[in-house]
Amino acid sequence: MIYARIAGTGSYLPPHILTNADLEKMVDTTDEWIYARTGIKQRHRVTDERTSDLATHAARQAIDAAGIAAEQIDLIIVATTTPDKIFPSVATMVQRKLGISGCPAFDVQAVCSGFVYALTTANQFIKSGQSRNVLVIGADTFTRITDYSDRSNCILWGDGAGAVILQASEQPGILSTHIHADGNYETYLHVPRNPDGPDTVVMEGNPVFKMAVNTLDQIVDETLEANQMQKSDIDWLVPHQANIRILQATAKKLEMPMDKVVVTVDRHGNTSAASIPLALDVAVRDGRIQRGHTLLMEAFGGGFTWGSVLVKY
Ligand code: ACO
Repeated sequence: MIYARIAGTGSYLPPHILTNADLEKMVDTTDEWIYARTGIKQRHRVTDERTSDLATHAARQAIDAAGIAAEQIDLIIVATTTPDKIFPSVATMVQRKLGISGCPAFDVQAVCSGFVYALTTANQFIKSGQSRNVLVIGADTFTRITDYSDRSNCILWGDGAGAVILQASEQPGILSTHIHADGNYETYLHVPRNPDGPDTVVMEGNPVFKMAVNTLDQIVDETLEANQMQKSDIDWLVPHQANIRILQATAKKLEMPMDKVVVTVDRHGNTSAASIPLALDVAVRDGRIQRGHTLLMEAFGGGFTWGSVLVKY
């Protein structure tokens, strides 16, 4: 049996930090409101860097951690909603920046669920025997599509990138993947074409919040059932970091204390497709996540799209 195993992780945050105090000067808001409603204290924001720059930094770290040469990568998948250009893909730009060529490279777009979609895709390539070393990246620069006059959502977004090397292995790695979408909710969370200015995120925060909590409850049940596992079999929840209250709701569903949930939303904000691999890399590097642990990654995002990946690290 061939598994897709996480051989190495990496991440990158642009150096400039936007605090809640900075936002107080930009819109009618307060640190107290933002922290109480979202759990966010600060987020990182790009100045000159593009999504492919962030993605390449994270990729280099993951390649080093996996102990492979970039030339051994035989597939690159980047989850992003904020590509540098409409085309070519960020994945091909990362390929060039890593100094390699020839292997297939493409982007997937499932907004905040993008990394779960990308891992699911990479897992299929490995299990079918087509690929052995896949570079999977989640990278976004949502602050580039944020309207900083709209206090209802500009407080949420941050920029960053996270990456993993998924390697073909006889040892367990990804145990199951579950992805879904429902296009009926397009306008709840989207970037409409704006004829008069830049295209920016428009969101109906409250219904999105409620849908996210309910849907993530269902994906937890689906994942546990598919693996015939108990809630207590999960060592770590590595969730998409949208809002601390959504994370708390999923932890409650799993009957899991919050110290078993990897939380980065306080420092990173919502980095969309980057948030899960960023959180994963933080907890691997600080030693919380160890080889043999069972991790549940889950996400909900625009579309709506949602999904989970259960993995033996
Ligand atoms: N500062 C102060 N007050 C504010 C702010 C702000 N930044 N924003 C809104 N308010 C006010 C509103 O005007 C409203 O005032 P009113 O009662 O006088 O009308 C009040 O605060 C409450 O507003 P709500 O929108 O109901 O606030 P809510 O508790 O829903 O919190 C939030 C808003 C944080 C956006 C929340 O709805 C949320 O997190 N939703 C989920 C968002 C999410 O996870 N999106 C990402 C999905 S992933 C992806 O695909 C990108």
